Amino acid sequence: MSLSLQPLDVPTAILQRRSIKTFKPDPIPAELLRQLVELTVAAPSSFNLQDWRIILIQDEAQKAALAEACWNQQQVVQAPVSFVFAANGKDGLQDLTAIMESARATGAWNDKTIAYFTQAIPQFTEGLGDKQREYAIKDAMIASAHLVLAAESLGLSTCYMNGWVEDKVKAVIGAADDPDLAIAVVVPVGYAAEPRPNPGRLPLGERVFQERLGVPYEG
Ligand SMILES: Cc1cc2nc3c(=O)[nH]c(=O)nc-3n(C[C@H](O)[C@H](O)[C@H](O)COP(=O)(O)O)c2cc1C
Repeated sequence: MSLSLQPLDVPTAILQRRSIKTFKPDPIPAELLRQLVELTVAAPSSFNLQDWRIILIQDEAQKAALAEACWNQQQVVQAPVSFVFAANGKDGLQDLTAIMESARATGAWNDKTIAYFTQAIPQFTEGLGDKQREYAIKDAMIASAHLVLAAESLGLSTCYMNGWVEDKVKAVIGAADDPDLAIAVVVPVGYAAEPRPNPGRLPLGERVFQERLGVPYEG
């Protein structure tokens, strides 16, 4: 993967990022979009399951349908692409061969690790019970954070979106009949058409603690 422009460093991208509500119609060059996708799926996941399904919405009719599923928020109509992050809580119960063989090929996991994971992953997943969905959503959210920061670093803007009706988003992506698929988050990506001020953050000690809740972190 070759990056075509000088990317922002991670701390700068983190601090500069804002949730953009108005986008220019300008398209994202195909190579840049490909870079974004590759950086998104470079995210870690539990057992490297990669239990996300990431659907790129670029078609105008699909964008309109997605906007309707997202309380008519116009970001997804304006932005050239929206990423729908879905998550499959049952992936740990599926055939894991491709994941094992990938790690074997890189040398990351040896035979012993592979043998252990092959039995531990389904067992762990079964044991999660009704938290399977939650665990898959964690992985999808981490991937979305990679997308958002990668986009910022590469000159694009984003907006995390929770404002949607899950069944409607599932219908748009063709998953209406899949009970195992959960929607994690929707992220429009494009070129900002507005400056957006930082709404600020609470003082550290209100949300960050030392050892136990109630002992504010003071740095
Ligand atoms: C998980 C999540 C869901 C959000 N959902 C929406 C949304 O549906 N629509 C929207 O306009 N902004 C949404 N936001 C943006 C937040 O309002 C925004 O992140 C927050 O106000 C802080 O502003 P900043 O992102 O510019 O730092 C969401 C943010 C997060 C992290």
